[in-house]
Amino acid sequence: MFGRSSGKIDLPSMPATLARIIQITNDSDATSEELARYVMLDQSLSTKVLRLANSAFYGRRMKAETITEAVVTLGFTSIRNLAASASVVDALFPKRLFPGFSWPDMWAHSVTVGVASEAIYSRMVGRCSGDSEAAFVAGLLHDVGKLIIARALPQRFIQVVEACRDYNYDSIRAENSVLSTTHARIGYDLAEQWDFPEKLSAGIAHHHAPENASEHEDLARAVHAANLLAKRMGKNYVVGVPVDISLKDVADTVDLRVEDMGYIVDQVREKVRQCSEIIAWADRMPGADNRQAA
Ligand SMILES: [Fe+2]
Ligand SMILES: [Fe+2]
Repeated sequence: MFGRSSGKIDLPSMPATLARIIQITNDSDATSEELARYVMLDQSLSTKVLRLANSAFYGRRMKAETITEAVVTLGFTSIRNLAASASVVDALFPKRLFPGFSWPDMWAHSVTVGVASEAIYSRMVGRCSGDSEAAFVAGLLHDVGKLIIARALPQRFIQVVEACRDYNYDSIRAENSVLSTTHARIGYDLAEQWDFPEKLSAGIAHHHAPENASEHEDLARAVHAANLLAKRMGKNYVVGVPVDISLKDVADTVDLRVEDMGYIVDQVREKVRQCSEIIAWADRMPGADNRQAA
């Protein structure tokens, strides 16, 4: 499944189902029946869609028995988020353990950053528009470059984790010194190859340096702040690396008041709870047993 090369690193190709689902959920004339037809082509996604539609969160009295009913219950945005999440987990998460690095915790971090990016971005731009979806997906995928490094260059990935832990480097500095590139750059290459909208690519590419995102700076700043917020909320995944950042510091990066950021934290906790079905997919990742035992 590895296709075009990005420098030394081969990039995975975009799963066909996700490509079609992104296309159809972006089409304002598309109907639930059409979307359901595409979802049905993917057995594992169909199961996930049905389970989510019938989960406690949606609280339907009647069970959704068909994919079309489930699509109507969930809505286009949730289906797109679910398909993007499922593709990342199924196609990109490495199948092996790396000492000092937790895949289940990285997944929890990614979902938290997705939810937080959406909440922060909506607050920044003062509306809950379709644009906040892009913030969710950019947040969910912001560190996708790390998954690609781990799969393509596992020994280098271990060196990066060690540099973070032993020298207290941030990941960008560690990757630059070990690989002469960064997960943000590789994530951008993937987003380009997967034909993501420009806004989404910019959010992934510039989540560590949002000032370079030109017209998409707001979205990149939202992902940047969400990443800090998730770490502050304990959603980090490199063992032994301390995170020391105040809520005010996070609020300052997006020019929000600390009270607003406090409100966002409550909102994120609640929404992450609602995403528990998606987070539970981490139970099949390497290292899930260790986490449960810990
Ligand atoms: Fe990152
Ligand atoms: Fe991150």
